[in-house]
Amino acid sequence: MTEKDIVVLGIESSCDETSVAVVKNGREVLSNVIDTQIKIHEQFGGVVPEIASRNHIEAISRVAKTALEEANMKLEDVDLIAPTYGPGLVGALLVGVSYGRGLAYALNKPLVGVNHLEGHIAANYITHPDLEPPFLCMLTSGGNTQIVYVKNYCDMEVLGRTRDDAIGEAFDKVARVVGLDYPGGPKVDKLAKTGTPNIKLPKTHFENSLDFSFSGIKTAVININHNTKDINKADLCASFEKTVTEVLIENVQKAIEQTGIKSLAIAGGVSANSYIRSEILKLQNDDLKVYMPDLKLCTDNAAMIGSAGYYNFINGKRDELDLNAVPNLKL
Ligand code: KG4
Repeated sequence: MTEKDIVVLGIESSCDETSVAVVKNGREVLSNVIDTQIKIHEQFGGVVPEIASRNHIEAISRVAKTALEEANMKLEDVDLIAPTYGPGLVGALLVGVSYGRGLAYALNKPLVGVNHLEGHIAANYITHPDLEPPFLCMLTSGGNTQIVYVKNYCDMEVLGRTRDDAIGEAFDKVARVVGLDYPGGPKVDKLAKTGTPNIKLPKTHFENSLDFSFSGIKTAVININHNTKDINKADLCASFEKTVTEVLIENVQKAIEQTGIKSLAIAGGVSANSYIRSEILKLQNDDLKVYMPDLKLCTDNAAMIGSAGYYNFINGKRDELDLNAVPNLKL
């Protein structure tokens, strides 16, 4: 390692993944261990916050130990501790934050709390060594849907956001309605591939705004499923996926026109959707370069948190040992 290398221990526990990663200089992932609780929450049809917190507590030391072993590092080799401190489930966040605070205190290392949403965006830095701000990012996850103008690594402006449901919530709801298990997004993705998008569904746009709304289409899918005898569920999923993708793309195109930005990234769990990825890729041309994180970096993981932690650190951010969880943290 050269003198200037900065090794970050990223910690993620905002929802139902306990993850710890070792990341060098913001872009090089030395390890990224993800312990998912999906199987535990599946039986309840969604994440149960209290159960998530308990399982984070049980997993976090083991996950951290494995992450260090896989990176061939010791705790003393780490330069910075970077836990997610929001947004997310408060009890779940507190596990990662407390663990990070403890390590920072015991090792006398700097602590930088990371905004989970900045983490999702930073997943692109890991996959694409050439990507640098400014760029636009379409951030679509279980809790968020926004178009972000990333002016610099730590300077972002939200140009449009959902006024009701996040797109991931809508995917999960549609999945449940058609009888698919939690988490439904990937299952809707799979089933939609076997269907035809032949069912007309409503699209919501707001005048002079890049905001989104997905509650109307969600209700429409529920009603159609309820009122149509022998509905073809694959067609319904394909129609839902196509309609929400059109809405996303229409707003992204408006944002590109408004800002004149020539780079577009996507991020968040829903950016793993195969149809959305293929449609977004079609936007690429001589005037627009499209970036997507590797599939395994789209959903929650600590490598993306380590990357965002690094950029916050080199831009001067430091947190005290009383860092707290902020469940409704915004960008
Ligand atoms: O980013 P993420 O792991 O957690 C949050 O930070 O919210 O996103 C989880 C969301 C869930 O709603 C899940 O159903 C959705 O991402 N998702 C997908 C796909 N993979 C994950 N939605 C559609 N298609 C997918 N392939």
